[in-house]
Amino acid sequence: MGKKSKVSMAVIRRLPKYYRYLGELLDRDIKRISSQQLSELTGFTASQIRQDLNNFGGFGQQGYGYNVEELHKQLGKILGLQKTYKTIIVGAGNLGQAIAHYRGFQREGFKMLALFDINPRLIGLKLWDIEIKDVETLEDFIKENEVDIGVICTPKEVSQEIADKLVKSGIKAIWNFAPTDLKVSKDVVVENVHLNESLFTLSYLLKEKLKKDEE
Ligand code: NAI
Repeated sequence: MGKKSKVSMAVIRRLPKYYRYLGELLDRDIKRISSQQLSELTGFTASQIRQDLNNFGGFGQQGYGYNVEELHKQLGKILGLQKTYKTIIVGAGNLGQAIAHYRGFQREGFKMLALFDINPRLIGLKLWDIEIKDVETLEDFIKENEVDIGVICTPKEVSQEIADKLVKSGIKAIWNFAPTDLKVSKDVVVENVHLNESLFTLSYLLKEKLKKDEE
């Protein structure tokens, strides 16, 4: 298998999409697929797909294509999805609660242990079996439970302070929804999710389409 450190972020960002489509093919009991068919599904070119997968050793066979189950399994391993990640959410407002409510993350191995909030009216409530705890207890909880991933869903004004607490307590991965660029030490990975950016891209595409329709 190729060295993962040399694989570009652009390739890595395409892998979850391949993984998702392969999962759907598996559900439909499809055993094998060519890069051309995978191209039609994903919208990436067949050569792009072959190049991407070659970064990790290929997996395909000339004249056969890809074994769906095997490729799905291998991509899962590459994405680190074969293990369970202990996850907590800080900020149990609209977004934090929506994330906690979604069972799909749990199914993929991201085990939501607890939510944390500062609002006394929320502390003690449960979403499914996940309790909203006092943010005062955040650091002790992370250390005691060896939490892997922290999700930040607080207002942006406090997000850096929360990130510092997460890192100080030993968390190495932050999924950040607050609209701010967090500063963290080099050994911590941060993935930002900004739905606004996606929405603004949609707005651009709509504007261009309307312009074209008028011509
Ligand atoms: P919200 O106001 O419903 O929830 C925020 C929660 O954080 C509240 O329950 C509040 O009590 C809690 N909180 C405040 N200070 C805290 C602290 N020091 N420690 C622990 N908890 C604290 O807000 P909403 O709509 O859930 O948004 C949360 C964050 O997510 C905001 O920063 C918002 O801008 C961002 N957001 C990001 C999106 C994205 O696409 N990335 C989409 C929607 C919201």
